[in-house]
Amino acid sequence: MRTRIEPYRIKAVEPLPLTTRAEREGALDAAGWNLFRLPARLVTIDLLTDSGVVAMSARQWAALLEADESYAGADSFSRFEAAVREVTGFPEVIPAHQGRAAERLLFEALVRPGDVVPGNTHFDTTRANLERLGARPLDLPVPVALDPSADAPFKGDLALGDLEDLLDARRPPLVLMTLTSNSTGGQPVSLENMEAVHRLCSAHGVPLFIDAARFAENAWLARERDPRLAALSPAAVARAFFDLADGCVMSAKKDGLVNIGGFVALRDRAVAERIRAAMVVTEGFPTYGGLAGRDLDAMAIGLTEVLDPAYLADRIASVRSLADQLDQAGVPLMRPAGGHGVYLDSRAFAPHIDPLALPGQSIACELYLHAGVRTTEVGQLMRGRPQPGGTERPVALDLVRLAIPRRVYTCCHLDYVAEAVRDVFGAPERLHPLEIVEQPEALRHFGARLRPRAAVAVG
Ligand code: F0G
Repeated sequence: MRTRIEPYRIKAVEPLPLTTRAEREGALDAAGWNLFRLPARLVTIDLLTDSGVVAMSARQWAALLEADESYAGADSFSRFEAAVREVTGFPEVIPAHQGRAAERLLFEALVRPGDVVPGNTHFDTTRANLERLGARPLDLPVPVALDPSADAPFKGDLALGDLEDLLDARRPPLVLMTLTSNSTGGQPVSLENMEAVHRLCSAHGVPLFIDAARFAENAWLARERDPRLAALSPAAVARAFFDLADGCVMSAKKDGLVNIGGFVALRDRAVAERIRAAMVVTEGFPTYGGLAGRDLDAMAIGLTEVLDPAYLADRIASVRSLADQLDQAGVPLMRPAGGHGVYLDSRAFAPHIDPLALPGQSIACELYLHAGVRTTEVGQLMRGRPQPGGTERPVALDLVRLAIPRRVYTCCHLDYVAEAVRDVFGAPERLHPLEIVEQPEALRHFGARLRPRAAVAVG
């Protein structure tokens, strides 16, 4: 059969909020043209993130009731530990409440002020956690990663020559490979690149870690694009990556298929014991790590379900189908489609808006006004920094991310999203230059208030 069907049927439904344009205009105005400030009950299709917004399976929901809530040594922990060991091969397993908590635990054990920590491209929380410890995160993406229109298969790869130079000059406490590379468009890392990074790290005695938030999507894309991997199961491909590393940090809110949870897993027992000793003070006892027993059971099952080939095939095909529909309409996108979302190239989409007048945010706002679709700007608003004197420099890439939650929306919902994007692309006169009225110092995109630059009436 040629028709793609979701490999599940629906057992519990939740009504979608349907609103009028007038209601959305009022809401956006009240939210200061910042989609993070919108009440979710006024969003029809929510593509703000793919994190923690998964629909759990019937098996996961059933496991919640069977979970063991004992403070120490719960059976839920044993099941969780066994699942993480099975998927990653790492013997030491430490639960944490989400990815950034896992990052903090690992970095506090390994990183010292003044250290440089290289990676393919660190996610924002990773950068922030390193900077908090006085270390310097260093992104070493392959140059093609920064060209939105280049159709390269492994834009998540790390620039090996740059890493080699760095390792010759100094000894970082670890190297971190983020699978897939969220900050460069959900692009996969190749096994070949991972092998080369492993060789360099081994030769210099530097531990290699994986940010495994989207390890299963990375495995699927690597398997599709690398003939060596075509005959392997997604679990075997994922394991081939983990086998090259000394450990990982994981936000299970993505490829753990849960609403909350994460972990650190590693080989080095002494480092694991240091983390366990420290975490009791902040995260909780090492067999629950700030989570309930039921969360651990949900993760144990999610980590297995995410490697189901039928699930992954549909997941990647649904993201790709959205990208293809937009591509056919001439909408400028980051190419190829990423594992967890589609990224619009804002400057090519809205060339009439000055890069400093927030073209990405303008597109995101109009997508909401037009169709109730919420997306995220990953561009000037998120990454720009005010300079002394008030102006700022244009950031390298200005994107709008349409992140697709796992198992939540059907093909039909994504067709609706494609129509909304096409409509907005076809009516550039509706896109207004924006200006920032008020902004917090750190992570300004979460709290900033904006307004259309000229006195333009909405609509
Ligand atoms: N690493 C990557 C690659 C991520 O994408 C995220 C979160 C984290 C770490 C942090 O995990 O949220 O569980 O603390 N990404 C979300 C997103 C927030 O929308 O892309 P967390």
